[in-house]
Amino acid sequence: MSLGPGKGRQASNGGLEQWVDHCILHSVSSFQSPVSGYAVRPMLRTADRLKGFTESVIREMTRVAHQYGAINLSQGFPDFDPPPELVAAAAEALHGNFHQYSITWGSAEFRRALAEKQSRLMGLDIDPDAHLVATCGGTEAMLVALMTVCNPGDSVIIFSPFYENYGADTILAGAHPIYVPLRVPRFDFDRDELRRAFSKRPKAIVLCNPSNPTGKVFTPEELTFIGNLATETDAFIITDEVYEHIVYAPHRHTYAAALPGLFERTLTVGSLSKTYAITGWRLGFVLAAPELISQARKVHDFLTVGAPHPLQQAAVTALRFPQEYYQKLTHDYTRRRELFTSYLRKAGLRFVDPQGAYYVLVNIEDFGHANDTAFCHWLAREIGVAAVPGSSFFAEPVTNLIRFHFAKRDKTLCAAGERLMRLRKRG
Ligand SMILES: Cc1ncc(COP(=O)(O)O)c(C=O)c1O
Repeated sequence: MSLGPGKGRQASNGGLEQWVDHCILHSVSSFQSPVSGYAVRPMLRTADRLKGFTESVIREMTRVAHQYGAINLSQGFPDFDPPPELVAAAAEALHGNFHQYSITWGSAEFRRALAEKQSRLMGLDIDPDAHLVATCGGTEAMLVALMTVCNPGDSVIIFSPFYENYGADTILAGAHPIYVPLRVPRFDFDRDELRRAFSKRPKAIVLCNPSNPTGKVFTPEELTFIGNLATETDAFIITDEVYEHIVYAPHRHTYAAALPGLFERTLTVGSLSKTYAITGWRLGFVLAAPELISQARKVHDFLTVGAPHPLQQAAVTALRFPQEYYQKLTHDYTRRRELFTSYLRKAGLRFVDPQGAYYVLVNIEDFGHANDTAFCHWLAREIGVAAVPGSSFFAEPVTNLIRFHFAKRDKTLCAAGERLMRLRKRG
């Protein structure tokens, strides 16, 4: 069923459904939709599983940013270019013989370069032919991981707040989420609460480390605690590590799969999007034990067949970048974090310094708006900066936080910061 432009969410929740019910009740077989004008047959019902979630609020806020011409600090993508040698490699790949499908689970060269890099970082011996499947971004990798391990009716532990895809992906995989809160302001978890959640025998736990939106970096001790619970209850660990290189000193990234005894039950979700500033290239991967990867490859094959072949070829150049590239990446993000949070401080806003990733949650309760969504629309319209309502990340009814990202050029961050200074008088 097509809905008219801009009416999608409201119409499907409200008038249209009532009207469809009316038609079913009165045995109307075919008619003009009052919403779209298109012919609709009322018996055509979309899947019930889609009632469990809405369209992405993050992506919606990008549309709101465009509507008001606001500086877009909502959806997390850079406004700076990828490294020039990577762009040159992509141009070269397009002139090469890479126009057709690669091997479905990733071209041999891509997997070889990726395995070398991840072996070095994780201190493991990653086999390109057994431990990896290349995907269309970390987004596909997460869905593949959940579909690989979940049966209909299973449950999956997700820490709240969480990257919004996890809830939808869990439902798409036929499972349901058990949310365990991370407690503001330190975003730590109550160990008894987590133990109780594991006692419900979930199929898996999803971790985001470093975390979007909290900026939390899990310590080896926390991961070991989680790993022990997963081992006792025989649950999988699905760990989203797309921000593995964006961690602020003194914090350090720990690969859950590399902790003693956890490799066999851990599916690591990775991505090249954030590390090389190529969110539009759609390159990611699942890394796990051979028995899991052989199943994950089937899911991936039938979902997307493969990640873009020329871009996999180009990415080999990036995967072979020397260590200095990653040092500079951390250095640059540390500078962006300091620059942006210095404006937040000057504007008198309350927030928790992120330990990793490139997001910051800001408290807006002093501003007297009805809720975070109303605040974000007002902020985009009146102040000219777009953020994401925090409620889209929480399972609990939290409406006093918004999320900014700072993966932007210094110039953009300064412009956004200057605009945010206008909040100082209003708070
Ligand atoms: C935690 C997390 N995982 C996955 C993704 C998606 O990554 P990709 O572009 O590789 O699909 C994002 C993007 O913002 C993210 O924040």
